[in-house]
Amino acid sequence: MPRKNMAKKQPLLFVMFFLYIFLANASDPDPVQDFCIPSNNSIPLRSTNSHFHFLPCKSLAEVTPEDFIFSGIKHPGNFSDIGFSGISVTPLNFPSLNTLGMSFARADLKIGGVNVPHLHPRATEIAYVVRGSVYSGFIDSTNKVFAKIIEAGEVMVYPRGLVHFQMNVGKSPATIIGSFNSQNPGIIRIPNALFGAGVNDELLEKAFGMTIEEISNIRKKFFPKKIT
Ligand code: GLV
Ligand code: MN
Repeated sequence: MPRKNMAKKQPLLFVMFFLYIFLANASDPDPVQDFCIPSNNSIPLRSTNSHFHFLPCKSLAEVTPEDFIFSGIKHPGNFSDIGFSGISVTPLNFPSLNTLGMSFARADLKIGGVNVPHLHPRATEIAYVVRGSVYSGFIDSTNKVFAKIIEAGEVMVYPRGLVHFQMNVGKSPATIIGSFNSQNPGIIRIPNALFGAGVNDELLEKAFGMTIEEISNIRKKFFPKKIT
């Protein structure tokens, strides 16, 4: 390529290079300080449900050991009709996680209980079975299922953005601790997204080969409050 043309293209190459670096590293940003526990007058980035905080952080003098301890997952949360209880631990209820790029969750499953197929758009999850026997798995982007019964003491990893699920197949309650490599992993539950969010019935009818009655029965059973 002649030198002149090369020089003309340089800015474009720079932009492409930086875009590549940015996209290849798209995850929670690296912290620029040890920690940033939001002070009481910190400003949430979004008005509600925010997982991120602008400065100010608490001053070092205000920070105590208690700030780094969370006691809210000693017991299971409330169980759903299908025997699942989940408590997410993010900067919303454990502010010290702010800027640290990770979060976690406690999941409990009654005998036969199910954690419905779901995905986390911003995090890979590692699930550690504390007690019980759990059919656990995920589906990759070629629709291959990787699933197995895992027992207390075993760990399974669900790669970021892939649909995964759990079911208690043992004879006693199961407890799982999930860790995420984002402070805001997000969660999309497949049944809720498809049948509880208001997607057009005709589309669902065609996509799943179901009748309107079947769709409406699923809605009534699982999402009664959304029925108008
Ligand atoms: C388990 O997969 C969870 O996200 O709680
Ligand atoms: Mn999960």
